[in-house]
Amino acid sequence: MDEVKLNIFGFGNVGRATARILLEKESVFKERYGLVFKVLSISDTSGTVWLPEGIDLHEALLVKENFGKLSAWINDYEVYNLSPTEAVREIEGDLIVDVTNDKNAWEWHMEALKIGKGVVTSNKPPLAFHYSELTEKAEGKGLPYLFEATVMAGTPVIGLLRETLLGDSIESIEAVLNGTTTYILTQMEEGVSFEEALKDAQKLGIAERDPSGDILGIDAGYKATILHCLAFKPITFDEITVRGIADVSMEEVRKSRREGKTIRLVASIEEGAVSVGPREVPRGSPLAVSSTQNAAVMKTDLLGELVIKGAGAGLRETASGVVSDIVKAALKIRGA
Ligand code: HSE
Repeated sequence: MDEVKLNIFGFGNVGRATARILLEKESVFKERYGLVFKVLSISDTSGTVWLPEGIDLHEALLVKENFGKLSAWINDYEVYNLSPTEAVREIEGDLIVDVTNDKNAWEWHMEALKIGKGVVTSNKPPLAFHYSELTEKAEGKGLPYLFEATVMAGTPVIGLLRETLLGDSIESIEAVLNGTTTYILTQMEEGVSFEEALKDAQKLGIAERDPSGDILGIDAGYKATILHCLAFKPITFDEITVRGIADVSMEEVRKSRREGKTIRLVASIEEGAVSVGPREVPRGSPLAVSSTQNAAVMKTDLLGELVIKGAGAGLRETASGVVSDIVKAALKIRGA
C-alpha cells in the first residue's frame, strides 16, 4: 500500500467537500489503486493545523463546521501561523492541494514544485495568469501539476484536451463555462429579478464569494483562458475580451425566449482570439444548458464536432475534479 501525504490549503466549501470524499472513498482508493491518503496539514485563513501522524478529517470537519475556523482547534492540535509559502516549505508532504481563491497562489505553487511537491488545484487565477511558468516548471521537475476542477468542475474537459485528444488539432471551442450567470439568466426567463436570482445563486453556493467575478464574466474568462492554453498555446487573461451579463435586461431575456432562443454567457475560443459575452443561442443548441450545467462544443480536424456537457459548479461536483487529480497525481508520484 502506498501512502501519499497531502497538505490541503483552503477549507471552505470545496476543501470540505474534498475532505468528505477522501473519507467516503478511502476503501475505494485502497482497493482500486493501492493508495492511502494521509493529510498532514490543513490551512484556512485562521491558521494551519499540522500533525505529522496525520489529521483526523472527521474532527477537522466538525471543528470547521461548528466554529467556522480551524484555529478553534487548540485543545487537541497545535495551530501554526504560517504563510502559504512557509507552510509549503516547512511541512512534509508529497502533494499540495490548493482549494483556495488566493490570486497570488502561483508563487507558492512554484515553491512547491521547486522543492519537489506535486500540485493539484481548483484555483483559477494561477493558471489564467501564469500557465507557462507553472506547467514548464512541473514538466522540468517531472511533477504533476493538475487542475481539472478549474474549468467545468469535475466534468473532464481538461483531461480531454490534455490527455485524450493528443492527435487532433482543435479548430475552435464555444462554451458556457459559468453556472451563476446561467442560473441568473434562466431565473430571469421565469420573471425573477436579476438581484433576487443572484441572491439565490449565492445561497446555493454556486456563485464565488465575491460574485462580481461571475457577473462581469471574469470567472468564465479565466476558464476560457485556460482552455485556450490547452487547445492552442499559452496566453494570459489580460489578452482576452470579456463582457459580463450585468447589462442584460429582463426585456432582452424575454424577447429571446419569445423567439425560441435563450441568452447565455458564451466563451468563443479560437487560436489567438478569446472572447466572452452574452449571446443568443437557439433553444435546441448544446449551449442552451440549464442550471449549473456547463457545455463546450469543440471542433477538431479529425473528429469534427464534439460536445462535452456536465456539472460546471457545485461542491461535490468540483471536489470530483480535485479528487480525480489527487488520485492521478498520486499514481504519477508512485510511478516516479
Ligand atoms: N462561480 C463558478 C460558476 C463556480 O458559477 O460557475 C465554478 O467555478
